[in-house]
Amino acid sequence: MRRPKLYSLAVALAIAAGTVGLTACVESDPDAADTPESAPTVANSAIQTDAEGMTIEQEPAPREGEEDEPAVELSPEAQAGQIVFNESCTTCHATDGVGDGPIGPNVEGVGLSNAEIADVIQNGRGAMPGGLVTGQQFDEVVAYVEAIQ
Ligand code: HEC
Repeated sequence: MRRPKLYSLAVALAIAAGTVGLTACVESDPDAADTPESAPTVANSAIQTDAEGMTIEQEPAPREGEEDEPAVELSPEAQAGQIVFNESCTTCHATDGVGDGPIGPNVEGVGLSNAEIADVIQNGRGAMPGGLVTGQQFDEVVAYVEAIQ
């Protein structure tokens, strides 16, 4: 007969704990949670001020290898291709081809060769139809996808 006793003790404890918890909630003063009016207002919590109210300048430390990393420079043709991409390819691919789209995969930094890129865009592959873009737009979008490998 030890078990039922222990069990009811546990239940009693649980109920007691619950009651204490509830009471604590009910008794807490909702006004106490408000910010006191005397508290200084800081518009942006990322901006820190010292004791005199002077702003402490905070330069985020550059992460290793990131210092002078240039953004990918797109040639004018690739820039035009980016616009073509976002007009003609983003029904399936993500904007700029960066990240997976609703149907098409990420096309940035996946190491596609130039020949592969031209082939997929011209002839399609799997669920991707070919011939979506032709002529100058084809050249431009190929240049864009090449530029982001
Ligand atoms: C109807 C949806 C759809 C559209 C529109 C579409 N794609 Fe795709 N794309 C896909 C799918 C799905 C794949 C994956 C094909 C496979 O490997 O089975 C793919 C693959 C690719 C790949 C190869 C990725 C890899 O890692 O092998 C490239 C490059 C690509 N698409 C570029 C484009 C470009 C550029 C356009 C616009 C001209 C475009 N896609 C339009 C669905 C689409």
